[in-house]
Amino acid sequence: MAIDKKHTHIGNIPIGNGVFLAPMEDVCDLPFRVICKNLGADIVYTEFISSEGIIRDAKRAFQKMTIDPQERPVAVQIFGGNIDAMVQSAKIVEDAGADILDINFGCWVKKVVKRDAGAAFLKKPDEMAALTEAVAKAVNIPVTVKTRLGWDQDNIIITDVAKKIENAGAAALAVHCRTRDMGMTGLADWDWIDRIKEVIDIPLILNGDVVHPEDVKRAFDETSADAVMIGRGCIGYPFIFKRAKDYLETGKYPDEPDIYTRINTCIEHLELTVDFKGNHGIKEFRKHYSGYFKGYAGASECRKQLMECAAVDEVKNVLADYLEYLTKNDKLEAVNKTRTAPRLSCSRPDYVKRQTVGV
Ligand SMILES: Cc1cc2nc3c(=O)[nH]c(=O)nc-3n(C[C@H](O)[C@H](O)[C@H](O)COP(=O)(O)O)c2cc1C
Repeated sequence: MAIDKKHTHIGNIPIGNGVFLAPMEDVCDLPFRVICKNLGADIVYTEFISSEGIIRDAKRAFQKMTIDPQERPVAVQIFGGNIDAMVQSAKIVEDAGADILDINFGCWVKKVVKRDAGAAFLKKPDEMAALTEAVAKAVNIPVTVKTRLGWDQDNIIITDVAKKIENAGAAALAVHCRTRDMGMTGLADWDWIDRIKEVIDIPLILNGDVVHPEDVKRAFDETSADAVMIGRGCIGYPFIFKRAKDYLETGKYPDEPDIYTRINTCIEHLELTVDFKGNHGIKEFRKHYSGYFKGYAGASECRKQLMECAAVDEVKNVLADYLEYLTKNDKLEAVNKTRTAPRLSCSRPDYVKRQTVGV
């Protein structure tokens, strides 16, 4: 039974329909955030940024916190295990123009946890609260926290953590409804949302396994979440934000985007990426292709060709040929309409190295 205690703002920032873009390393760069925002995401998050990288003035850390006025409101997420470094970097993030400062207490990968950061704080909730308090006191923008249910099934401490971080001055809490030891396996347990909501009075953001518009609606109908945060479900599929928004606002189940919309959005996303990162952006963009055309006839062959492209014009030519193929063969509708979240995770071995070295 959902608890009737809805928040409309995080600090002074309106929540809108409450459909947010989750922070995702190597995915939530500025171009992707702008695309998601234009398609209806209410608040967008950057990927997590190392507090040490920010303090060392690493070029890559600064690129990650570059903000475009179009994407506001934007939350910049930082991580680290050292309070002083987190406080110092939070001030830099505030000066860079972030609307919200989010602290990562949920990253489960070994290299982050070993450095006493991310989900490591689930083993030391008092230190989590102390860090939150120090950061919240150091900046004037709302400070929010993203974490998990607990370390493992025997140590689910989220209600305790929620109270502590609220008392420490957090302006909102996002919960990925898995434990640390689950990584990205199993199912997110949304049942915890109402239990958390009962003990806090700050906005609560549900995260985990929100993939379809009906998941968004179900999250709001069946839990008392103030907002939901979408991760894997929007990779190569930013349309989820528009579809979820339409569904919430009209109650009518939204159509899938057609192939023309998919091609145009993919090209727009790629062009923004290359404008922002230079030609190197083409390589970084490759992870997005499969999502844009998933379910269409010949999509895997098209993707193979896209992966070989070294310039935007080459991509445009491949997509023009693909559209011609679909048209000629009367295959403009998707063949397979089932959409699952992509199997991408932040567990690659070079994850932290690139974060902290700032290359
Ligand atoms: C590729 C990838 C990178 C991620 N990077 C971050 C990150 O930088 N910060 C963070 O708090 N969570 C990160 N996450 C976790 C997501 O924000 C989210 O909590 C998780 O994917 C569950 O939501 P979903 O089921 O909607 O994907 C990442 C997840 C993925 C798949």
